[in-house]
Amino acid sequence: MRGIVILCLLLMGADTVWGMVSGPCSNCHTMHNSQNGSAVDSDGPSSHLLTTSCVGCHSHATDTIVVVGETRIPIVFTHSKPTYPATGSPTSTLAGGNFFWVSQEGGDAYGHNVYGISGQDNDLATAPGTSLGASGGGAGGCADCHATLASSNPVSGCTGCHVPKHHADDCQEIVDGAGGWYRFLGENVAMVGDSGTYGVTGIEDENWEQNPSSNQHNTYMGTTEPYVKSVNSYMRTESIGQFCAGCHGNFHHAMNEESTDLSGAWIRHPSDVVLPVDGEYQYYKTYNPLVPVAKTSLTGQKNSATVTPGSDVVTCISCHRPHGSPYPDMLRWDYSEMVAGGGGNSSGCFVCHSSKDD
Ligand code: HEC
Ligand code: HEC
Ligand code: HEC
Ligand code: HEC
Ligand code: HEC
Ligand code: HEC
Ligand code: HEC
Repeated sequence: MRGIVILCLLLMGADTVWGMVSGPCSNCHTMHNSQNGSAVDSDGPSSHLLTTSCVGCHSHATDTIVVVGETRIPIVFTHSKPTYPATGSPTSTLAGGNFFWVSQEGGDAYGHNVYGISGQDNDLATAPGTSLGASGGGAGGCADCHATLASSNPVSGCTGCHVPKHHADDCQEIVDGAGGWYRFLGENVAMVGDSGTYGVTGIEDENWEQNPSSNQHNTYMGTTEPYVKSVNSYMRTESIGQFCAGCHGNFHHAMNEESTDLSGAWIRHPSDVVLPVDGEYQYYKTYNPLVPVAKTSLTGQKNSATVTPGSDVVTCISCHRPHGSPYPDMLRWDYSEMVAGGGGNSSGCFVCHSSKDD
């Protein structure tokens, strides 16, 4: 880890512009992992002839956006405690959260355990809600993503979730396949059955929500279609909830008694389900980036400050941060402070369940 930090600092100190498409190749790539006879990446050659690993580039001691010339690197793992929730300061946690807590402070329950950052989860032998067991084939098999993301096999780790497309042009407002999908959340071609045709769409905040507000934020894609359990055409709804359900399937597919449609009582918290227009839900009108909803259409929604019950949906990341948070189960807020009838709390669950605090 120390070697990686030093390498990043060296790159930062370089005089050249480190641009994603325009910067010199040598800032990010090494042809032989060798310079003056010494290894460029002391951890060994990286995929795509990169100078360092995913974790290497996306880590920093303190800051969550590292600026090098015209290139800005979003940081997902800081070695000191990031500011949470984000305030716009240089140390503010980005939208996905931060691996600091799972690695340095809270432990296994505070984030996904990811190769290069933490060892395998001591409490969870598979992704909760998956239909796949811990068995599932050896190296590069199903278990390397569905049972743990901390396997040393190359498909696991960051690339268990992300299908990186750093050279894709993501400048259009709604990022789709042409831009490498929203935050590189494409169909995982390392998985048997995935074609790479589908992925998650979304509108990307240029600061990765380092300084979010009701009118500056990511805009997430949701759906009201009850998506099914299958590998083929899996991510066709382009929603971020369907992506999470890829590994935690039953938490979506088996959320109501019927499972095939949305009738019958809820038996798990609904996800990709529309906020009713009546009752306590009608009062969630101004977008709160700490408790986001997803849109069922992204057109014209960039930085919209409006929440629309009747069409916007609750989804997995309304409550969770995928990389980790200061709270168990990588929740976006402190669940222990959600006390029915406690009064005066307008965050967390109460943003939608506005009458349960009275
Ligand atoms: C800011 C860092 C950066 C710079 C500068 C950069 N690359 Fe890359 N490149 C990456 C990363 C990260 C990947 C990892 C895989 C991916 O996202 O596609 C990659 C992947 C690639 C790939 C394989 C995937 C693809 O899109 O074809 C090629 C080929 C490539 N780079 C060539 C180049 C060349 C040639 C240059 C210089 C003209 C260059 N890169 C400059 C970061 C960079
Ligand atoms: C050489 C440095 C470098 C390496 C290695 C690298 N990245 Fe990146 N990554 C970057 C930069 C720079 C950006 C910002 C690109 C931009 O502004 O869109 C970025 C952006 C991202 C994003 C966010 C994309 C978005 O829409 O903002 C993800 C996700 C990501 N990288 C994942 C990965 C994964 C997974 C790997 C390992 C396979 C990896 N990166 C390796 C430099 C790197
Ligand atoms: C469990 C799946 C998962 C894993 C594992 C994962 N990510 Fe992410 N990542 C996501 C999702 C989902 C988002 C989008 C978050 C959002 O926009 O709210 C994201 C966003 C990002 C971003 C954009 C910045 C941000 O916080 O939004 C970067 C950069 C990134 N990931 C890099 C990485 C790297 C590097 C690793 C490995 C150390 C990694 N990710 C592991 C799911 C994952
Ligand atoms: C490289 C990581 C990776 C590997 C290896 C992998 N998967 Fe997946 N799997 C994912 C991701 C990410 C998703 C969700 C997004 C997608 O479809 O790509 C998913 C989704 C699924 C789904 C849809 C789940 C549902 O509940 O609807 C099934 C089924 C599945 N995988 C089965 C398998 C099987 C069987 C294997 C082994 C042959 C396997 N996967 C190997 C990452 C992986
Ligand atoms: C590629 C498979 C994969 C995807 C996609 C995925 N997860 Fe996970 N998730 C896992 C695995 C494996 C575990 C158990 C081990 C661990 O915690 O790292 C897990 C654990 C969790 C936990 C429990 C944390 C703990 O350690 O107690 C939560 C909460 C969670 N995931 C939420 C999400 C959300 C939200 C998304 C979508 C943004 C998501 N996951 C996407 C594989 C995945
Ligand atoms: C309304 C908020 C909310 C939504 C929406 C939500 N979760 Fe959770 N999730 C929680 C809370 C709270 C916990 C903590 C345990 C509990 O109270 O059940 C949790 C726990 C988990 C766990 C850990 C379970 C374990 O056995 O340790 C996983 C995995 C998870 N959620 C994944 C998901 C996925 C995937 C989705 C979307 C399909 C999702 N969650 C949607 C609030 C939510
Ligand atoms: C982003 C909005 C949102 C957030 C945040 C949220 N919920 Fe919900 N919740 C909903 C929606 C929408 C429903 C389904 C309403 C319907 O159609 O009946 C629901 C349903 C429920 C139900 C089942 C109600 C029934 O009629 O069976 C419970 C219990 C619940 N939520 C508890 C929680 C708790 C506890 C939290 C915090 C951990 C939470 N919710 C956070 C939107 C939200």
